[in-house]
Amino acid sequence: MLQRRDIDSVGSDEAVIATNDDASSCKRCAVALGYWSDRYINYFIRSTTDRKAPEINRGYFARAVAIKILVDKFIEVTNGNCQIVNIGAGFDTLYWRLGEEGKTVKGFVEFDFPGVTSRKCLYIQRTKQLLQAVSDEDYDVKLNRNNLHGHTYKLTGVDLRNLTDVEAKVKESDLQYSLPTLFLAECVLVYISIQKSSQLLKWIAEKFKSALFINYEMVNLGDRFGEVMLSNLRTRGCDLVGSEACQSTETQRRRFLDYGWVGADSCDMMGVWARLPPEEIARVTQIELLDEQELLSQLFTHYAITTAWTDHRWSEVQL
Ligand SMILES: C[S@@+](CC[C@H](N)C(=O)[O-])C[C@H]1O[C@@H](n2cnc3c(N)ncnc32)[C@H](O)[C@@H]1O
Repeated sequence: MLQRRDIDSVGSDEAVIATNDDASSCKRCAVALGYWSDRYINYFIRSTTDRKAPEINRGYFARAVAIKILVDKFIEVTNGNCQIVNIGAGFDTLYWRLGEEGKTVKGFVEFDFPGVTSRKCLYIQRTKQLLQAVSDEDYDVKLNRNNLHGHTYKLTGVDLRNLTDVEAKVKESDLQYSLPTLFLAECVLVYISIQKSSQLLKWIAEKFKSALFINYEMVNLGDRFGEVMLSNLRTRGCDLVGSEACQSTETQRRRFLDYGWVGADSCDMMGVWARLPPEEIARVTQIELLDEQELLSQLFTHYAITTAWTDHRWSEVQL
């Protein structure tokens, strides 16, 4: 029999899953306006009904471009002899964008709830441009409801709070503990309790001796603006159970350093924006007029990119 606790958890998992649709439609909107280019996002989110506010578009731009710069650097310093694991990947299109640029890695794995991966599997299966890129003439793509196993690309349905399942899926995805591995999490850990996310981060640090983690997430959730962000999400059924680690850039660093990572850095999006290529900033600030400069500053001081490493070599992967 289902307990009240289980029913609450299922309900809130559904609200968390729905955050992927929001993120994808925000990305599609910004891409349509020309903030950055992504030929693949339209295959996952077919239409956007509403235009997002300019500060939201700029926020997504800063995050997308900064993360892509870091990923490109990691691939460059490892000469492609590496793996990428995107946890809570949603409908992210990084695998196809890298492929288009001729950037290859040894393995590219995406994890998310089965409710998300089943939809992603379906979209990949029915879209030639997506399917071709995960296929290989010497390797038959294996597909079932929630999982897709290509030669390099693997998409896997798993609850990240269940470490036993994660470990099994890591094995099934042919990930090698000894290879340099980039973990990517964009707005994911905040939906997982501190106890469970710490277990996951500790496990990764123990197993992957040459890992770099890129975490894009909220910070300063304890101030007035942060409280409003929390309460907006709560009204949509999303409890940010991991918000304790999102109090500052220091708490973001500590969530890694306290669990076996040898180094960590964290910079809010104000600092990230200042490090983006000036010509790109000049270009995107022409796209839309921004009335609410103050609102953009508030948004930028409430999100951060944190990098953490288990191998000192990856401390050089910075903006
Ligand atoms: C805000 S969305 C972000 C999606 C993607 N990273 C992006 O930036 O577009 C959060 C994602 O984390 C996933 N997620 C959250 N908790 C999870 C868990 N316990 N196990 C698997 N996926 C989870 C959700 O299903 C959702 O796809």
